Amino acid sequence: MPLRPTKSRLIGMAALAALVTGVLPAANVQAASKPTISKDLFGTLSDGTKVWRYTLSSNAISVKIITYGGIVQRVDAPDRHGHRTNVVLGFPKLDDYVAKNNPGPYFGALIGRYANRIAKGTFTLDGKTYHLPINNGQNSLHGGPKGFDTKVWTATPGTGKDSVSLRLDYTSPDGEMNYPGTLKASATYTLSGHNLRIDYRATTDKATIVNLTNHSYFNLAGEGSGGIYDHRLMLNASRYTPVDSTLIPTGKLDPVAGTPMDFTKPTPIGARIRNNFQQLAYGQGYDHNWVLGGSGFRLAAEVSEPTSGRVLKLYTDQPGIQFYSGNFLDGTLYGTSGRQYRQGDGFALETQHFPDSPNHANFPSAVLRPGQTYRTATVWSFSAN
Ligand code: BGC
Repeated sequence: MPLRPTKSRLIGMAALAALVTGVLPAANVQAASKPTISKDLFGTLSDGTKVWRYTLSSNAISVKIITYGGIVQRVDAPDRHGHRTNVVLGFPKLDDYVAKNNPGPYFGALIGRYANRIAKGTFTLDGKTYHLPINNGQNSLHGGPKGFDTKVWTATPGTGKDSVSLRLDYTSPDGEMNYPGTLKASATYTLSGHNLRIDYRATTDKATIVNLTNHSYFNLAGEGSGGIYDHRLMLNASRYTPVDSTLIPTGKLDPVAGTPMDFTKPTPIGARIRNNFQQLAYGQGYDHNWVLGGSGFRLAAEVSEPTSGRVLKLYTDQPGIQFYSGNFLDGTLYGTSGRQYRQGDGFALETQHFPDSPNHANFPSAVLRPGQTYRTATVWSFSAN
């Protein structure tokens, strides 16, 4: 007769599992517990604004998010033995984020209004030409010098049956960073079990362009533990958008087959990163948009780290994903645990519309009009094997 999983039997099974795997029973007893959300004061900005840090915890993982930039400051995820470590790059203090994240790496931040690059900061919409601030060579990057990553978002915590969530709201005034329209944006982080989901929403009162993402850098062996070139990456993409020397797409969708851009099968990130291939020279490594296969909400990427066994699966409904291999980390920054970040110490997977879409009629449109709602979701699913 099958045993009903009463609490005491679960604890007994947990103890047995602990003997087999070496995991402390306490970790398994927690398996029955509901996710929690709490907050602590992360810091205070020079204008007196308090920045809160919310901790979302499930039986599997713990995520810390700050109201400044909606930044994911920590994700503690278990390896194959159940040992948790922080798998995202970041800083220990608010002052570091304010002083070093923009211009800089944009660790963990919500990016808007337009993630990635717009050529020469210029685009034309309904016959009107707009000029965005130039902050990356000759281009505009990640919404400009005072993008969404620098704003303090209004936080609303929530609890569901098996989940906890943190809704973050920010209203960007008409003309902010020279983008048209008042944009009401929200990003909701929801944690359930091994999954962190991010739901983005935006509405506008004038025609505008929108492309929101999260800019976390992962290192599945642990933040500050060294390079990510041994991580195996799979991208659900048979094409990518090649770029010019300023990392602006040429407009072509090129096949990955036969090039170092081919991640259709799991491949170590570093296996071909120094091959003689012009695109890799432009980015000093991988810094490109892949054209995701299929449509609707589907698996976009899977990354595994052989030593720890940690696996990250990333799902989205977006047409593209930027895979950036942390090429511009140059040893000048020290991270959450005080260790130096060098080139290739973390990678980002940014779900997105293609870079510079407003200047490419053949790319999916990133235009949002009054009465429409911009909606997109991304899930990071952590496991170990
Ligand atoms: C870009 C990189 C840039 C990094 C940090 C990425 O999304 O593609 O070129 O260096 O963000 O700003």
